[in-house]
Amino acid sequence: MKLFVKKPLSQLLASTEGEGSLKRTLGAGNLIALGIGAIIGAGLFVRTAAAAGGHAGSAVTISFIIAAIGCAFAGLCYAEFASIIPIAGSAYTYAYATMGEIVAWVIGWALILEYALGAATVSISWSEYANNLLGHRIPFEWCHSPLQSEIINGVAHHGIMNVPALVILLALSLLLVKGTQESATVNAIIVFIKVAIVLVFIAIGWQFINPANHTPYLIPANQPDVTQPDGKIYSYLPTFNHGWGGVLTGAGIVFFAFIGFDAVSTAAQEAKNPKRDMPIGILGSLVVCTILYILFSWVLTGVAPFTDFMKSGKEASVAYAISHYMGQYAWLSTLVTVAILAGFSSVILVMLLGQSRVFYTMSTDGLLPKVFSELHPKFKTPYKSNLILFIFVGLFAAFLPESIAGDLTSVGTLFAFVLVCIGVIILRRKEPNLVRPFKTPLVPLVPILGILVCGAMIYGLPASTQLSALAWMAIGLVIYLSYSKNNSKLGTSAADALPTASDFEKFD
Ligand code: ALA
Repeated sequence: MKLFVKKPLSQLLASTEGEGSLKRTLGAGNLIALGIGAIIGAGLFVRTAAAAGGHAGSAVTISFIIAAIGCAFAGLCYAEFASIIPIAGSAYTYAYATMGEIVAWVIGWALILEYALGAATVSISWSEYANNLLGHRIPFEWCHSPLQSEIINGVAHHGIMNVPALVILLALSLLLVKGTQESATVNAIIVFIKVAIVLVFIAIGWQFINPANHTPYLIPANQPDVTQPDGKIYSYLPTFNHGWGGVLTGAGIVFFAFIGFDAVSTAAQEAKNPKRDMPIGILGSLVVCTILYILFSWVLTGVAPFTDFMKSGKEASVAYAISHYMGQYAWLSTLVTVAILAGFSSVILVMLLGQSRVFYTMSTDGLLPKVFSELHPKFKTPYKSNLILFIFVGLFAAFLPESIAGDLTSVGTLFAFVLVCIGVIILRRKEPNLVRPFKTPLVPLVPILGILVCGAMIYGLPASTQLSALAWMAIGLVIYLSYSKNNSKLGTSAADALPTASDFEKFD
């Protein structure tokens, strides 16, 4: 059936050969570093405080564990796909080869929420920390969305447009247009700085933990209301604002901090031994980050009372906690801020790059207009795609608050994860004899648990976010049925083809 036409594996593998193909230079250690580079960002340095302040309190550590469990189950499913089709790409590519075009489209469309909105979210966070570094010299109006307001010295200020977020997006989009060949070293340095700053904060902050801030661990239902910077009262009474409901919502929020571990799978084409190293890279970076995140959030909520993160510590929360509660280490706040800005930049870059790669592939498949795969005559980058992406991402970054963009990113990514988990089960049934260099253990239990945990996190996020994501997917289906289906290059010509043993010989 045309809607379920599959991309022949031989065609996918052929695209990895010949001139300009990528060299296989990455080992398991490099892949873990790559994962960590893409993972640690706004989720840790901004969303941890948002989840703790509004929903989970100190138990945000448990939220991290729930999110990590969901990612681990989904990660095991990703690893099976990444090993069946060990080439550059993402869930979109896997789906196209194994589950058919319409499923690939749905995943590709959900990935836009992950990558494009993810980039917007991190650029908004970048703006928060940049303004903090500049001593809040940028007027509130020009570094916030129209949906945000704050009372400063008794005067209400309303956001107009988030200019710093646009500036960083433009700078990085132009860098992508020029090409990022030299960026591997810069990326390695940034990964080192990011991990170092997390470790330094944990080590120094540990001495400033006030046990009273960790008691009670979960937010009680009778937690007094707080007044937010915009003058609005925030109540902890609703089910998802305290107790275990709050922990679940917190998990959906901090899930953002894990987004990007699947980016490891996009490097499959450069892995020395993809069969063995991809699962190690994906799961290894997850384990390292989970440990860092739990320790970090334990210290952050121990240093500052969680309610601060709904008040004056709402923005640039880590810098706030250091300068307000860590006495003689206030200088560290500036250092941390600079490191965080560098770290955010690398995450934005990876996300913009990931998005333009997905657009590029969808466009070469005919599912999106050709403009997304036109290369710059000199730089050989999909420059038009990068610039269109800048406008698209920029609109979200300029006019949405971080919380809305971040929650939408989480929902979109969780949805893509659920589809990948379902995909593994379907493929095991339909193609039991397919060569699987890495097998997800305990199928269908592991994928089902992945679906349940990721589904629960979607359930815990605000209804408005769920509806917006649903509307986004509906728009996607309309575009598919009215444009992409008719322009698909494969739609009319291809025979279904799945990997055979001989397809894997070249990786042995
Ligand atoms: N995981 C990435 C971050 O937290 C997206 O910024």
